[in-house]
Amino acid sequence: MDARSAALVRANFRSVMESPGGAERLISSFYGHLFAESPRLRELFPPAMEMQAKRVTAAIQWVLDNLEDWERAQNFLEQLARDHRKYGVEADDYDTAGRALVAAFRAYNDNAWHRELEEGWRDIALLIAASMAIGANSDKSQPYWESTVVGHRRVLEDLAIVRLQSDTPIPYQAGQYVPLTIPQRPKMWRYFSPAIPSNPYGEIEFHVRKIRGGWVSPAIVNETKVGDRWQIAAPLGGLQVDRDSGYDVLMIGAGTGIAPLRAQLIEMSRRGINPRVHFFIGGHYPCDLYDVENMWQLSQSNPWLTIVPVCEQKTNPWWYPHPPSDAPYGMHRTLIGNLGAVVASFGAWADRQIHIAGSARMIADTRRALTAVGTPEANISSDPV
Ligand SMILES: Cc1cc2nc3c(=O)[nH]c(=O)nc-3n(C[C@H](O)[C@H](O)[C@H](O)COP(=O)(O)OP(=O)(O)OC[C@H]3O[C@@H](n4cnc5c(N)ncnc54)[C@H](O)[C@@H]3O)c2cc1C
Ligand code: HEM
Repeated sequence: MDARSAALVRANFRSVMESPGGAERLISSFYGHLFAESPRLRELFPPAMEMQAKRVTAAIQWVLDNLEDWERAQNFLEQLARDHRKYGVEADDYDTAGRALVAAFRAYNDNAWHRELEEGWRDIALLIAASMAIGANSDKSQPYWESTVVGHRRVLEDLAIVRLQSDTPIPYQAGQYVPLTIPQRPKMWRYFSPAIPSNPYGEIEFHVRKIRGGWVSPAIVNETKVGDRWQIAAPLGGLQVDRDSGYDVLMIGAGTGIAPLRAQLIEMSRRGINPRVHFFIGGHYPCDLYDVENMWQLSQSNPWLTIVPVCEQKTNPWWYPHPPSDAPYGMHRTLIGNLGAVVASFGAWADRQIHIAGSARMIADTRRALTAVGTPEANISSDPV
């Protein structure tokens, strides 16, 4: 594609994105054309599709930003299509998608549509469709693994630990996360971080917090039963301790955000020599530190590991059903305060590789607290939540 044509489609796409509701109108038209040509494709989607406008336009934007480095754009699209295999999308479907994309831009631009725009968007749609078809064809491995729930323990009113046995072991690295679906909410894929490392027996564990008003997490916490079959797709993410960097490690986790950190620590405990790790586990109330006792025990046999519990409140709320004597072993060392502020009060940790895991807000707050005391931004890793 020549520079003039690229500038034209970029300017056209910018005008869509800058117009209020423009992305939604464009993508709704894209799906209208897609489903009109191939009605069976609608069945691959969950009932609600309102998030798709943001996701698909972000992907198109990424492609347009990388037109000059086509290999990069192509790798991204091939990976996107490999991931799409879990939805049931096949290589041949991308031809239809390419046509629907051009039709959507044509309909959106209406009277302002002209030959050069048609040619520009045709080229882009062809590049997208061809790369995605190549991606879909390039991977013949299974798009997801079937797993059976073998345990469901509700450790807090809003939090469950779910153990599964997959039919064949899932090859993820400790610290990665996986997309999964559950039978109570078919086709609604969500990401969860395994809380134990992959093992040859196919055992896998997730810690799931119920989000009020959410579709999938309340169903996992309230409705999951032993024997349910879950589908778990290919792992993503790169929260991994770099053993060769020579840097010690600082881990900061809150709520179920401890899962990817815990998986890494269990993996590390299988080795004789490890970098030093300080693991700050945060919660609002002491009862939120539902796994601190296990982590404390892990630290007892692994001298490289130090566990530091941090709570915003000293005591459990009045409605918490268990007596105070249930406080986990080691809780007398709990520090009180905001997690990020407490960690930053020890200094910049500038000589550490730092992993932060939790909600988007907790990650942003903790990152801000650390960088404010001089932690180099480049030392900090977190998942894209
Ligand atoms: C990389 C990654 C790893 C993750 N690992 C875990 C994990 O190990 N354990 C775990 O419990 N969750 C984890 N999550 C979150 C999980 O994927 C879901 O987003 C969460 O369970 C909500 O899904 P839902 O279907 O219940 O809510 P949805 O139906 O998707 O959302 C309903 C509403 O809740 C809002 N919402 C979604 N998530 C949150 C949130 N975290 N806090 C506040 N509001 C929210 C949405 O914006 C929406 O308005 C992870 C997310 C990512 C991106
Ligand atoms: C025949 C063509 C296609 C079909 C049937 C299809 C189907 C789907 C489905 C079922 C989802 C999941 C929706 C959800 O979980 O709510 C999805 C997500 C997504 N699609 Fe597509 N898609 C197609 C083409 C494309 C194209 C051309 C792009 C952009 C270039 C795209 C980008 C995305 C993105 C970014 C997501 C978000 C989640 C993810 O990364 O998997 N899709 N798609």
